Amino acid sequence: MSGKSVSIHNCWRRQLLAVRAIRALAAVFSRFLFVGFTRVTRHALLVLCALPFNLALTGMAQTAPASGTDKINLSIDVSKPGAKIDRNLFGQFAEHLGHGVYEGIWVGPDSNIPNTRGMRNDVVAALKALKVPNVRWPGGCFADEYHWRKGVGPQRAVTLNPNWGGVVEPNTFGTHEFMDFLDQIGAEAYLSINLGSGTPQEAAEWLEYLTTTQPTTLGKERAANGHPAPYKIPYLGIGNESWDCGGNMTPDYYLAQLKIYNRFVRNFNPAQQDKQQMLKIAVGPGGGEARWTEWTDTIMKAWQKHQWSWDMNGLSLHNYTVVHWDKKFASVGFGETEYGQILKNTLEMEGLISKHSAIMDRYDPQKKIALVVDEWGSWYAPLPGSNPGFLAQQNSLRDAVLAALNLNIFARHADRVRMANIAQMINVLQAMILTDKETMVLTPTYHVYKMYVPFQDATFVPVAFNAGAYVHGDISLHRVHAIAAKDATGRLWLEITNLDPNRSVEIEATLAGSTAKSAVGETLTAPKVDSVNTFAAQNAVVPKPVSATVQGGKLTLKLEPKSVTVVSVEQ
Ligand code: AHR
Repeated sequence: MSGKSVSIHNCWRRQLLAVRAIRALAAVFSRFLFVGFTRVTRHALLVLCALPFNLALTGMAQTAPASGTDKINLSIDVSKPGAKIDRNLFGQFAEHLGHGVYEGIWVGPDSNIPNTRGMRNDVVAALKALKVPNVRWPGGCFADEYHWRKGVGPQRAVTLNPNWGGVVEPNTFGTHEFMDFLDQIGAEAYLSINLGSGTPQEAAEWLEYLTTTQPTTLGKERAANGHPAPYKIPYLGIGNESWDCGGNMTPDYYLAQLKIYNRFVRNFNPAQQDKQQMLKIAVGPGGGEARWTEWTDTIMKAWQKHQWSWDMNGLSLHNYTVVHWDKKFASVGFGETEYGQILKNTLEMEGLISKHSAIMDRYDPQKKIALVVDEWGSWYAPLPGSNPGFLAQQNSLRDAVLAALNLNIFARHADRVRMANIAQMINVLQAMILTDKETMVLTPTYHVYKMYVPFQDATFVPVAFNAGAYVHGDISLHRVHAIAAKDATGRLWLEITNLDPNRSVEIEATLAGSTAKSAVGETLTAPKVDSVNTFAAQNAVVPKPVSATVQGGKLTLKLEPKSVTVVSVEQ
């Protein structure tokens, strides 16, 4: 948590104590006085506390605080474009875990569920609409025990998945199936190699198998298995959570492994030798504590002085939204308190990114190394009756708001954060899609990803506003979060999240460097914070059209409580 967050929290604590004292006094006189006086006092204090923090956040001078009012002014500076919001920030993660791959993607060519070469057609069509840029596979923890040879060729070995429920792994979905799936949805490969229980030789041979055009035994085997042309592997993860499930390594031990694997995993695809070289992503931190800052520091310091024989292009960061690991929250059937606590927790992503970016800046001021948030999202208690190792959870409106907040954080750090992968794509953790036999349901998170498609590869545009405050018990959060971006055609896109579940808000937006003519878009909200889409009621949480009025260049838009809104602004 940043120093500013700490001071606003302290301020809130003092404020709440003051409010409690005033309440006690007022209660002595009359009940009427109590209600009126405390409300006024609370709002005045709220304004005092929230104002300096809001100003610091936006980095622009503000005149009137919006806290406690229902109007928020936004100023979008189209003349000051920022970094590109890399489309890879909208990446997905598909691990051999629960029903993420088997049943979620793969039903096999003989299934009654409509499929193309074993991939479910409904899921493929839904993912195509998201323009998924990349998919990380085969894990997660699974990757560090995955032996690729067991998943190629006509005879597949049947193995175990000890990490995730101890179930049988049929290996029917292997390298070729993964690459075919990517082709079908139009995404690129982000492969994680086995640095835990594997060897550099095994990893090097996988890359040779995938990418060589030479008539080597491995190249010929790939052709015999149905793919004569080399595959394109744009992203390669060198291990996964090597500090934990990937082998409990110290930063120095991992660094030694990283150098060895880096040296030997070569991509031979002729099309990837110059411009489209494979990017290598090292294991990075899993939190903000000293253990993790030491990890980032060790890897980045070594990279700064690296020799010709090894290099890397990205450092991963894993961060899940969990309030208590030992007593996880339910994914459905919760109230406003759990809504507020989860959103407060998820917003810690901002501080985490800033902290590791600052370390990276010390060794890489030119920001050559990307921070790759390749595992993030909500992690709740397993659904009752499900295998706890399958990490099955529902996905509610809270997750939609959570997704928008994180995507906005990534966009604000787009100069350093250039790739991210939500965990996980189907049926696992914060999924886009849930399946049950032949039925499929799109989650509220899916809808947010669809609404954000225009932000893929768009250019960040600064937005200044007074974020206001949402207060519930001892939780105080910024009420409004927003980003803006210009797409390749010059069209302006604005996303605004109102996380207050009780109060709507009126947005008045002005453009610096341009004039708004009209704005239309979509908003996602629902009656309750835990509203979900189910197999029986698939459209309980779906986006609805929204339009803004424009007068004298000012764009006015009403945001519903607990809503995510994306509008395109005509200039
Ligand atoms: O996404 C589930 C698991 O969480 C992944 O396998 C692992 O990398 C992380 O701990």
